Amino acid sequence: MIMTHSSRIFAIIVAIILGFCADIAFAEGNMSETNLKWWQKSIVYQIYPKSFQDTNNTGTGDLPGITQHLDYVKSLGAGAIWISPFYPSPGVDNGYDVSDYVGIDPKYGTMADFEKLIREAKSRDIRIVMDLVFNHTSNQHEWFLESSSSRDNAKADWYIWRDEPTNWRAIFGGSAWTWCESRKQYYLHTFAVEQPDLNWENPEVRKALFDAANFWLSKGVGGFRIDAITYIKKPGKFQNFEPDGIDGLRSIHDITANSPGILDFLREFKREVFDGHDIFTVGEANGVPSDELKYWSGSDGVFDMIFEFNVTRLPFAKHGEFWCKPSDWTILDFKNAINSTQQGARKTWCPVFFENHDEPRSVNHFFPKNADQKKAARVLAVMLMTLRGTPFVFQGEELGAINVDWDNIEMFDDLSTRWQYDFAIQDGFSREEAMNAVRFFSRDNARTPMQWNSKANAGFTGENVKPWLPVNSSYKFINAESEEKDPDSILNFYRELVSFRNQNPELLSGEYELLLPNDEKIFAYSRGQKIIIAVNLSTSDAELPEEFLTNTQLLLDTESGTSMDPRLLRGLEARIYRLGM
Ligand code: GLC
Repeated sequence: MIMTHSSRIFAIIVAIILGFCADIAFAEGNMSETNLKWWQKSIVYQIYPKSFQDTNNTGTGDLPGITQHLDYVKSLGAGAIWISPFYPSPGVDNGYDVSDYVGIDPKYGTMADFEKLIREAKSRDIRIVMDLVFNHTSNQHEWFLESSSSRDNAKADWYIWRDEPTNWRAIFGGSAWTWCESRKQYYLHTFAVEQPDLNWENPEVRKALFDAANFWLSKGVGGFRIDAITYIKKPGKFQNFEPDGIDGLRSIHDITANSPGILDFLREFKREVFDGHDIFTVGEANGVPSDELKYWSGSDGVFDMIFEFNVTRLPFAKHGEFWCKPSDWTILDFKNAINSTQQGARKTWCPVFFENHDEPRSVNHFFPKNADQKKAARVLAVMLMTLRGTPFVFQGEELGAINVDWDNIEMFDDLSTRWQYDFAIQDGFSREEAMNAVRFFSRDNARTPMQWNSKANAGFTGENVKPWLPVNSSYKFINAESEEKDPDSILNFYRELVSFRNQNPELLSGEYELLLPNDEKIFAYSRGQKIIIAVNLSTSDAELPEEFLTNTQLLLDTESGTSMDPRLLRGLEARIYRLGM
């Protein structure tokens, strides 16, 4: 093909960028495939145990259910499984309210079941990653029962007690302070009333938490996801702030996230627990600005990587905003959010994710209602497997799972969903508007039972059992069994992408660079010196600059064969090219 003037300029720019990246990679002693750690090369599969597989007809998933599906998880290329909490818990926040850090909730099984899971997983080269919920316990934890019993017990200052409340709003709504009659004081809870915050200033608390984490290391776990970790340090002064809602309260996130001094706690955590083990750590770190990433992740940081939520919080300028007041965003905003995470982590490492147990399903989240959901799932999968970082796949995402068509507020289990609904009504929204907001954003969209087959209850539990949360009616056409047989399914496309990723080392270790930064439809980027990816994030056709087609080889196309004109990138089409023939 004859090069036009503009294509020559483009080729020069790509060459300069790629050459520049090679220099940076060199200068940083950066990262050939061979010196990547195991968790940088693998995929992490997230399981929400309550909803994965019920083996004893209780309507609730369990650990043997995870063991039963290890081959399935392995077939997705996973080297690790992050399991949301399965410690003993009253279950107010589905296990994120822990009442014993070193036990197994009987509804999920026994310690022997857990040890078997570790063994069976290990035999398939899969490691189990625990979720550490260390900002708070359940109010039923024996530490809290003791601490709340009087002002002078041995654990009196294991939690945060005050005579006067401030006007801080808990993340799940209402005041962040709750009155305790036996102490005649208030205690602080960043999340629900039943989730009192631990006092990390107390060295005994920190030691007890580190001991718990070390207990799981001694069981052979392969890493930790550390919950809500940016909230553990409270600011020096407890004072009122300008309210940000009709309730006269101010989001606690604005006040306590990433408070000065937090890194001292985290460095101690690293020293006492993580150092010296062949594990990975990923902190859930809302509120860390990109210029502080270097302290939080990578070899000089406290964790190997952190979840920050640029992308999933796209409709909200800040964390903790009301679901009934989302803002409009554009494809450029979506691109910029992904790009800023990738750029922020360029000297370190990051997870790549579009879903988890707190987010709506990604095909609904990031694309308009009328978008073709299978195409949307494919382009998300391409980005997940080709952006720089460790891909985290949330159960069902590999099937192209979609949100639930919720009928009414009673159907939801999630406490934050119910609060967001009530708040929207108080704030003057109609029931329908409130319902639309929670229908879209509810965390329960991700938490419905895993869709294994098209039989009653989707194969999650016995056919006559009532699952703890209704099965999404989409199970008739979105389920693992039928997708297994369909060569054109999202599931098989995931597997194809995983092997593609493994065969192209640039996708593991190559630098990321943004291309076409101002294009309003196409998200394009390069990996390493040879691979370029172009994703049309819009639902209408876009024109791919000729330069993508000059002296390049098409390696993968989500819409192969649908367009006679290679310059035409169909709506929701993704292509991967190799530079040079
Ligand atoms: C984290 C968890 C979420 C939980 C909250 C409180 O954000 O991901 O599910 O509700 O912390 O523990």
